Amino acid sequence: MTSTNRKILVTSALPYANGPIHLGHLLEYIQTDIWVRFQKMRGHETYYVCADDAHGTPIMLKAQQLGITPEDMIKQVREEHMADFADFNIEFDNYHSTHSDENKAFAEQIYTRLDEKGYIKRRTISQLFDPEKQMFLPDRFVKGTCPKCKSEDQNGDNCDNCGETYSPTDLINPISVVSGATPVLKDSEHYFFDLPAFEQMLKDWTRSGALQEEMANKLNEWFESGLKQWDISRDAPYFGFEIPNAPGKYFYVWLDAPIGYMGSFKNLCDKKGINFDEFWKKDSDAELYHFIGKDIIYFHSLFWPAMLKGADYRQPTSVYAHGFVTVNGTKMSKSKGTFIKGRTYLDHLNPEYLRYYFAAKLTSRIDDLDLNLEDFAQRVNSDLVGKVVNIASRCASFISKKFDGMLSSNIADQALADEVMAGGDSIAALYESREFGKAMREIMALADKVNEYIAVKEPWQLIKEDGKQQEVQDICSLGINLFRILMIYLKPVLPELSAKTAAFLNDELVWEGHKMLLVDHKVNKFKALLQRVEMDKVNAMVEDSKENLMNANAAPAAPLSKHLNDEPIADEIGFDDFAKVDLRIAKIITAEHVEKANKLLRIEVDLGGETRQIFAGIKSAYQPEDLVGKLTVVVANLAPRKMRFGMSEGMIIAAGPGGKDIFILSPDNGAEPGMRVM
Ligand code: 2FM
Ligand code: ZN
Repeated sequence: MTSTNRKILVTSALPYANGPIHLGHLLEYIQTDIWVRFQKMRGHETYYVCADDAHGTPIMLKAQQLGITPEDMIKQVREEHMADFADFNIEFDNYHSTHSDENKAFAEQIYTRLDEKGYIKRRTISQLFDPEKQMFLPDRFVKGTCPKCKSEDQNGDNCDNCGETYSPTDLINPISVVSGATPVLKDSEHYFFDLPAFEQMLKDWTRSGALQEEMANKLNEWFESGLKQWDISRDAPYFGFEIPNAPGKYFYVWLDAPIGYMGSFKNLCDKKGINFDEFWKKDSDAELYHFIGKDIIYFHSLFWPAMLKGADYRQPTSVYAHGFVTVNGTKMSKSKGTFIKGRTYLDHLNPEYLRYYFAAKLTSRIDDLDLNLEDFAQRVNSDLVGKVVNIASRCASFISKKFDGMLSSNIADQALADEVMAGGDSIAALYESREFGKAMREIMALADKVNEYIAVKEPWQLIKEDGKQQEVQDICSLGINLFRILMIYLKPVLPELSAKTAAFLNDELVWEGHKMLLVDHKVNKFKALLQRVEMDKVNAMVEDSKENLMNANAAPAAPLSKHLNDEPIADEIGFDDFAKVDLRIAKIITAEHVEKANKLLRIEVDLGGETRQIFAGIKSAYQPEDLVGKLTVVVANLAPRKMRFGMSEGMIIAAGPGGKDIFILSPDNGAEPGMRVM
């Protein structure tokens, strides 16, 4: 397979430019990155491109809420995303934005070609409109009473209570989530992409054999229920690209999002002199793969190939979907601290642990993947530290202390060496087919054999016996050589560990190197390669994710923010519930940093005679000394919560988007500590 040089373009889904990267996202980027690193190691011309998905109503409204332009917001978020990816060793060849010149040009070109061929239909539709904000409301921005079961406060497209799906115009007493106003119906001309015209082409593509079986089945269900025309236009105000010759009409974010794959690649081509057309022309023999989550299959397996076909471009070779990440067996939860942001993970743990754990559990199928935190620590410690790195630590000290770092010219056990070298073909086939879990199991089975060999030979005993020095050098040299081969196999998963290994071995760890051994070869002094995962750090990460939640609680209380924040929308509470919350005026008497806490300050408040300790996630916004003496509002009857640093006996109420902009509420009109807030 390595003899033929393939041209491969790979993408991961473009993250929205209004929220942080979390562990759910990272499954996909890690999966794709491993696959790309493997292809590159095998000598194929491979490019991995991605971008921020920068358009759409939620992004427009979030920027408004922050009081900044969408351009400024997406710039800042893109920088944060790029830093997160870099720190997880996700190595894109290019990371662009859908709000780019290249993307605009392709979106316009593709639309124009589709329009010229009659694939764009125009018709007037009636939709809910917010008369206060003067904007049409996407489904998720309307709430109301379910037309079927009459349950209140249901979403615009389906009912959480009875499961009914409907159109937002069917809701009883609808309200705009953006302003709280009652929406009105308003007509507007919309542009539709004629998906049904591509049914036969999509069926042929589905049956080409390149798709996952579950995906082909899903597509067949959609064919059976009938393809529908797709609404690709949105009316102003909208953050996106205006449709050519259609003032006030914009491309729907999902029209230009996948085109962003092309835009990012074009940007790379222009920087590097790569031939764009070779990868995208109709009869291209390059391969094109999109890695995505299972929630966006419809867009990538129906709209996208059809748009490409209609605009005379090639279709994807395949679209690979993965499932969702659960943590400890359930959906990631902010209150349990299992909604873990990439940055919070990095504050506590080595990215290679997560890369390995995901690899060890990934299959080529669309199943969900559970990150069980105990199992995570145990698996990484047992496999990477206990099996793989252990081989090197057992052998390296003898080689460096007794043999001046020289590996022997003898091969102590040719059969074992052959077995480990021979593993490469099947491991490569497993990487190729995205069966990473199976690949990791094969690698660990080989590591077990090498460890068994060393355990039987006991070089630490032999070294004490006269005349056994050569034997010790031979055994340990074989151990180090086999460790080297295992690290070649693991290199796509563990770039940092393999870089350290390469430095120790004076060897680049190229894929083909698995077929040979280093003999008469000098290695460097061995340094510890990988620390064990400590459960304390895992727990601290979970605590810190709860701290993030305390910050999130500080988000502004206006209806806009409540619903547009990435936080799940809190259920409505009755007056009785509200009355249970004991809000009190408190005076801050001490405030100080908490060692090792990234976001918390330790605060003591006077509640009118009673002193309480509260840990508040407001460190990014306040210097402790500036808080002392201030009056604020606390939830006085919140059950005390044991945190890593001590007991927190209440909660300080604050507002703001986060970072430097968190504002504690400070009454200044004669309120006294202990007064009840009504
Ligand atoms: O679902 C999402 O997060 C989208 N931003 C993915 C876009 S992928 C591609 F089509 F751009
Ligand atoms: Zn209902």
